Amino acid sequence: MSDGTNVVARLDELKQHGAYEGGIDRPLASPQERAARELFAGWGKAAGFAVTQDAVGNVFIRRAGTNPALKPILTGSHLDTVKTGGAYDGAYGVVGAICALEMLEARGIATAHPIEAVAWVGEEGSRFPLGCLGSSVFCGIKSAEEALALEGDDGPTLREALESGPGGYVTGVPMRSERDVAGYIELHVEQGPILEEAGISLGAVTAIFGQRRLRATVQGVSGHAGTLPMRLRADALCAASELILVLDRAARVEPDAVATVGRIVVEPNGTNVVPGLVVFSLDLRAPDVASLDRIEAAFNAAIAEVQTRRNVRVEVEAFERRGATPMVPALRDGIKRAAAALGKPIMDVPSGAGHDAMSLGTIVPTAMIFVPSIGGCSHVAEERTSSADLELGVEALAKALVEVDRTLVEK
Ligand code: HGY
Ligand code: MN
Ligand code: MN
Repeated sequence: MSDGTNVVARLDELKQHGAYEGGIDRPLASPQERAARELFAGWGKAAGFAVTQDAVGNVFIRRAGTNPALKPILTGSHLDTVKTGGAYDGAYGVVGAICALEMLEARGIATAHPIEAVAWVGEEGSRFPLGCLGSSVFCGIKSAEEALALEGDDGPTLREALESGPGGYVTGVPMRSERDVAGYIELHVEQGPILEEAGISLGAVTAIFGQRRLRATVQGVSGHAGTLPMRLRADALCAASELILVLDRAARVEPDAVATVGRIVVEPNGTNVVPGLVVFSLDLRAPDVASLDRIEAAFNAAIAEVQTRRNVRVEVEAFERRGATPMVPALRDGIKRAAAALGKPIMDVPSGAGHDAMSLGTIVPTAMIFVPSIGGCSHVAEERTSSADLELGVEALAKALVEVDRTLVEK
């Protein structure tokens, strides 16, 4: 029976699911991501907690509270990864959540609210084109039907992948439709350099940047690289390149904003063929919506000009538009009291990375705890956090859950 102090060993066990020479690749509803959900559910069953899952595959492990009439406090993160993921992004908050529940149980610490450790599915949007997929459905931002109908970048819909693929639902775990929640705390690695530079091991997140995910399709005309004169070309890749650099320049003049084109498809992708079609992703982030608006306005103005000059057609689809998510001061204070009780310094830190807390923050009081990322690295195989910081974060989460339980009861 775990007492919750084995977060490092569990992360080592979990990272085997999806590990390869380029890091960890654990897309939603893949066999390796399902294995991770099975492992999480198994820990919950072994601890004697109630385990459930919902229609899109989110897994919940519930520790009873002294007042069953209260809605549960949720704590968790995601098990899916980007294609070159590390061992801690998301996984740490999921493993930390079950460890915190076991810690409270082992220490005989009761909470009035039930507490549920959660593995949210599809946070990265690395297979199905919606980030924070599972938490968006749980929070009513997207319907389960909309999410299940999404097509993966390898073909099947999420429904097909969950209902008939090898990456389906967890076995032997009842389905649930309940979506009650009183509050949310997410434990996560910072994925940036701020805590490490300050030499501080705990962060109380102030806000999560607003973010937008879009996809641009540039339709030009393909042709022979040797015989099609430059004056007659409608080269989709040259047009796309101009637009991508406009995004880069627009983001650089906005404080703390970032713009990324991380994925691009060129067709027919032949060395001696003029590109006729290009599809590329846009990922825009900024502390405030006005910056995001200005970046998008610059991009749209450039589209109008490039379309005419290069005789191409550009279409843009928006998949996600989220404003900044401020963390709730009353819960942040609970996190700071937890750090003080541990005798550890804690600092305010913003999050440029997106998290499932963006979804939960639309419906309940929400807060996040960060621990340092070594070298600020994330979304790469080199992602690391020290064992001492991993263990400290779980202790802080367990204490913060007790503090937040009391805060929400007194509300
Ligand atoms: O993209 C993000 O910020 C998160 O890792 N999904
Ligand atoms: Mn991530
Ligand atoms: Mn994450």
